[in-house]
Amino acid sequence: MKEKIIQLLNEADDYISGEEISKQLGVSRTAIWKVINRLKEEGYEIESVTRKGYRLLSSPDILNSEELHYNLNTEIIGNKIINFDKLDSTNQQAKKLALEGASNGTVVIAEEQTAGKGRRGKMWVSPPGTGIWMSAILRPSVMPENASMLTLVAGLAVCKAVREITNLEASIKWPNDIVVNGKKICGLLTEMNSEIDFINFVVVGIGINVNIEKFPPELDNIATSLMIEGNQSYQRKKLVKRTLEIFEDYYKKYLATEDLTKIIEEYNEHCINIGRKVRVTGRKQDITGNVKCVTNKGELIVTDQQGEDIVVTSGEVSV
Ligand code: BTN
Repeated sequence: MKEKIIQLLNEADDYISGEEISKQLGVSRTAIWKVINRLKEEGYEIESVTRKGYRLLSSPDILNSEELHYNLNTEIIGNKIINFDKLDSTNQQAKKLALEGASNGTVVIAEEQTAGKGRRGKMWVSPPGTGIWMSAILRPSVMPENASMLTLVAGLAVCKAVREITNLEASIKWPNDIVVNGKKICGLLTEMNSEIDFINFVVVGIGINVNIEKFPPELDNIATSLMIEGNQSYQRKKLVKRTLEIFEDYYKKYLATEDLTKIIEEYNEHCINIGRKVRVTGRKQDITGNVKCVTNKGELIVTDQQGEDIVVTSGEVSV
């Protein structure tokens, strides 16, 4: 009912009467009045005028399922959104829910993470109310060896959504970072539960530093936020929705070929590493060379100092 009332308030050009809401939803005016009061407590500015009704003046940038579902144009990703004020990690919670049977496309989102997980056992700083900390549960019918490409699919989606909403020049740093002005604004952590030839589920975790004002000194050189780079705050809910919509679009393209064929051109256009010198670490042997491209299987092709093309499937890339 809360979701429906928010929708009616949003869609009304002017005031909408309690009677009209009660007629449309088939509930009593007292019940509506109670929901309106709850919304006010949550930070919605709602004007109530006798004989005219209610008028929505502003809604807070809270990431609840009602707000996120409003006008969300997806079929799969975000069909169910479960929001929390605080979690240890949205990836942990998503994995737990997936094991309990959560459906394909369910998104878990939290205002704050107390033990946000980064790649390779690192932790992810996730202060309350300032970022987007979310995880999508997917159950794709693809072979497990093709699941790691989902990180690239989601990365391209975040990059495009950030560009669209902020006009900042966001780029992808292969395989799982989104950077602005050389510093990281988003990290992705994809985890999988599978049998040898069957995926039970994949959890794609996305962390975006939106309105963080300051980072701890040890992260100051490598991390930044959209607010720091753009000198303004951004609506997180708008960015969540566009990310999910674009993610779904690319996800369908990925499913069609079980690889990146349909999006690789766009991926390469947004990838900051192309044509640049890199050092790839975190493998048996470090590689130094120039990046040629990312393939439709998601591998990084690095031309080493001997002129040989090396196919890199994983590792840490530094410039
Ligand atoms: C990295 O760059 O090391 C990956 C960071 C991934 C962070 C996100 S925040 C939402 C989701 N939940 C987690 O615990 N981690 C991911």
